[in-house]
Amino acid sequence: MNASPTSSSRVAGRLSARRRSLASAAFVGVVLGVLGMLYAALAPGGQASTSADPAVQRGRDLYNQGCSSCHGFAGVGARRAPSLIGVGAASVDFQVGTGRMPLQHHGPEAPRSRVRYSQQEILDLAAYVASLGPGPGIPQFNDADWQKADTAYGGSLFRTNCAQCHNFAGSGGDLTYGKYAPSLSKSTPRQIYEAMVTGPENMPVFGDKQITPDQKLAIINYVRTIKSQADPGGAGLGRVGPVSETVVGWLAGIGILVIVTLWIGARA
Ligand code: HEC
Ligand code: HEC
Repeated sequence: MNASPTSSSRVAGRLSARRRSLASAAFVGVVLGVLGMLYAALAPGGQASTSADPAVQRGRDLYNQGCSSCHGFAGVGARRAPSLIGVGAASVDFQVGTGRMPLQHHGPEAPRSRVRYSQQEILDLAAYVASLGPGPGIPQFNDADWQKADTAYGGSLFRTNCAQCHNFAGSGGDLTYGKYAPSLSKSTPRQIYEAMVTGPENMPVFGDKQITPDQKLAIINYVRTIKSQADPGGAGLGRVGPVSETVVGWLAGIGILVIVTLWIGARA
């Protein structure tokens, strides 16, 4: 019963083979572990990349509840409404701040309506939409900016750029296909600025090259002035001028006289 040297060396050989395969398995395990950690550290993880700004997070919740049904998941747009990526905070502040959004009825135009969100909620929604892609921010002005603004110059800019749609007095007017340019009597200075930089629906965008920020303030000052002027002598008639106002008064007066004459004739 002698263990031949050949058989014992065969056993030793088998043992070392098993040790080697264990070692290589451990090596593969360690490499995989390191790769995994590297991936976790470097990869753009879904959660890790979203903003930690609490306003953005609150805005995302509000968006998912009130806007995503039309504008789609993460503002990518859907059949019922356009994408909001890159429209900017200014567009959200304008659309939600004038009650146009959330849209109530699909029609030729989204009208000004009751505002459904608080000021803070509007800022949160705007922060969320701004986080989706760069776009015009909410404008800020101070008293010094207003002092620079030249109202007369603003009036001439208004007549060249805005009056063809909004009328000389900013009282609005009809466009084609059931669309209309609304009256500016309810617009706040910020909303007027936002309308110019975002161009809602049929309104063109007036970029800073076309109308500089100072010129925008001049236009806003002009709109504020015509809003605060009372209409002496009754209805404003769109402030089209003394001649046409006389014509309207004259025709209406004659009309009433004709009706009165017919009435007297019928009684006689
Ligand atoms: C019932 C569907 C509907 C809902 C709900 C809705 N929208 Fe809209 N939204 C539209 C449509 C349609 C338009 C495009 C027509 C228009 O501008 O009037 C639009 C346009 C906009 C625009 C202008 C985009 C641009 O190009 O400048 C903004 C900003 C916007 N929506 C924000 C919101 C926000 C924020 C909410 C949630 C509070 C919301 N919308 C809810 C249908 C909807
Ligand atoms: C081509 C026609 C057109 C021109 C030019 C135009 N607008 Fe508009 N504007 C519109 C339309 C249409 C709307 C309504 C958009 C909507 O409801 O989404 C509008 C909306 C507005 C509003 C929002 C009113 C509100 O409800 O508070 C303001 C403010 C405004 N325009 C200011 C201006 C100013 C200032 C200019 C000139 C620099 C101008 N617009 C030039 C068509 C025009």
